[in-house]
Formats: sequence, structure tokens, C-alpha cells
Amino acid sequence: MRVANHLVRAAILAAIASLVADVVQSRTGQLATLLPSALAATETPAAPAPAGDPVSGQQFYQSCMGCHSLDENDVGPKHRGVVGRKAGIVPGYAYSAALKGSGIVWTPAMLDRWLQGPQKLVPGVKMYFTVANPKTRADIIAYLAKQH
Ligand code: HEC
Repeated sequence: MRVANHLVRAAILAAIASLVADVVQSRTGQLATLLPSALAATETPAAPAPAGDPVSGQQFYQSCMGCHSLDENDVGPKHRGVVGRKAGIVPGYAYSAALKGSGIVWTPAMLDRWLQGPQKLVPGVKMYFTVANPKTRADIIAYLAKQH
């Protein structure tokens, strides 16, 4: 009787163990299918541009001054009032045909793209200078936005 009891208990325990294993397996299966979609839902399509600081932007603008200034055309066109302006319209500056005909308006977002690669944004332009750091670009653009 004692032995039989033992056997019954062992059989019940084995049944429970396999049941638990089944549940765990199906749950982890569910988790595995749930997880990727949960992760995808938290992904944002593109990182928002960082907020620009015009004061440090003025420092970074030094790197533009090899070719630009606010009030004089130089290697590049003068910059005062550039944010919000159409591209290629500063009087007395000899733009490339590419930039002149681009139809671009210099919004902050467009300037951000320009500074990542002028050639990529408008093939055929004659500015060969890029700013790799997103925060630095935002600072420069914030500075330019204040130079009306
Ligand atoms: C090595 C020279 C050089 C440097 C440095 C340079 N640029 Fe330029 N930039 C140019 C030239 C040349 C053009 C004219 C491009 C054309 O006509 O195709 C230009 C054009 C531009 C324009 C278009 C303006 C308009 O009137 O349409 C903007 C905006 C501009 N540059 C921003 C900058 C900023 C901001 C920096 C610094 C982060 C900078 N550039 C650094 C040479 C330079």
C-alpha cells in the first residue's frame, strides 16, 4: 500500500511537472512573438534635432568664417538673414547654377541637412564643408537664426 501510494504520488508529480513545462514553453513562445512588436512600437522614426544654443553657436560659427561672414560676400555668400531666406539670392555673389536653381528655402531643418553634406542635398554646389556633430549643427543654426 505504501509503495502504491508512492507510485501514485510520483505519477501525479510527473504530470504536474510536464504541465508546468508545457505552460512555460507556450508562454515563452508567446513572449518571443510579443517582444519584437513591443520593441518596434517604442522605436522612433528619426531622432529629433537637439535644441540649439546660439551662444556656443557663435563660437562654432568661427569654422564657417574661413569662407563666410555675416555681412560680406567672400568665398561663400554673406549669411545675415539666411534663416528663412531662399537659397542662392544674395546680390553680388556668384552662386553655382545648382544652388541657384535648387528652389530651397533655408529652414532650420534644411540647414541641418545642408551642413551634413551640401553635395548630398544639392549635387553640384561648391561648398565642401560639413559639420558632423548634430548638437554643433543645431547651435550654429540657432546662432544664424538670431542674425536678422
Ligand atoms: C571652405 C569654404 C566654406 C566653408 C568653411 C563654409 N562654407 Fe558655406 N558656402 C561655401 C560656398 C562656396 C557656398 C556657395 C555654394 C554654391 O554656390 O554652390 C556656400 C554656401 C552656403 C550657404 C547657402 C547660402 C545661400 O545664400 O543660399 C549656407 C547656408 C552656408 N554656406 C552655410 C555655411 C555654414 C553654416 C558654415 C559653417 C558651419 C559654412 N557654410 C562653411 C563655402 C564654405
